[in-house]
Amino acid sequence: MTTVPRYATDFADRYDDWFTPPAASTRATVDLLAKLARSAPPGPLLELGIGTGRVALPLAERGHQVHGIDAAKTMVDQLRTKPGGEQLTISIGDFAEVDHDGEFAMVYVANGTFFELASQQDQLRCFARVARRLLPGGLFVLDAHLPEALAANTGAGAQPVESANGDPVLRTRRIHPASQRYISDYLVLDEGMFRHVRVAFRYAAPGELDLMAAAAGLRLRERFGGWSGGAFNDSSSGHISVYELPA
Ligand SMILES: C[S@@+](CC[C@H](N)C(=O)[O-])C[C@H]1O[C@@H](n2cnc3c(N)ncnc32)[C@H](O)[C@@H]1O
Repeated sequence: MTTVPRYATDFADRYDDWFTPPAASTRATVDLLAKLARSAPPGPLLELGIGTGRVALPLAERGHQVHGIDAAKTMVDQLRTKPGGEQLTISIGDFAEVDHDGEFAMVYVANGTFFELASQQDQLRCFARVARRLLPGGLFVLDAHLPEALAANTGAGAQPVESANGDPVLRTRRIHPASQRYISDYLVLDEGMFRHVRVAFRYAAPGELDLMAAAAGLRLRERFGGWSGGAFNDSSSGHISVYELPA
């Protein structure tokens, strides 16, 4: 059963205010995805965990036919209120299943969302189902933290994090290396009330992701150090991995 995090159910109408990344980061994400789409066969794109449409809507504005899957209708309801939001074809469901009609030139998942799949089995299944939905030569693009950087950036106690609308947000993160899981708890001060949001992740190192991809018949085409398209190297704190279904 899909467990939809509380930010997506109870606080979907506040998600953009509190959790959406800065505009420059979204622009870089959309630019790199558009560039990758130009190197893929012609065809539609599919976003896993499409949310409120931060990435999908600007891609659609640039002329791409974008589809999406999300477990939270509440998030998709927000997307539908935005310009162009009614035009996208979206399935409500678990993106581990990739239960969405059609074949795609590129499937992508952004903003650390792949690690919201709760187990290695779910992540493996997602790779396998994506591979079945890709056109020959099609791409699967995902972003992810590096486990070492995650550990290094996790201070003791609560850390202030920036919210899009300036509401104060504190985050505590607990990492459980034995199960490759971490849990982020957010406390948002919203008009004098504290709101609590918990998100659980199952993380994997790049090598494990590459093995999951290989098991699904996909091969690593390239890996960037971030959405700006820079090199992946020892200073990287995360990566954008581009897998390809051989033509
Ligand atoms: C962090 S938000 C990111 C939204 C969007 N991709 C973006 O970059 O702004 C993650 C989204 O994935 C959805 N989600 C999380 N786990 C899911 C699952 N197993 N199946 C489908 N949707 C899921 C949540 O409901 C939420 O809308």
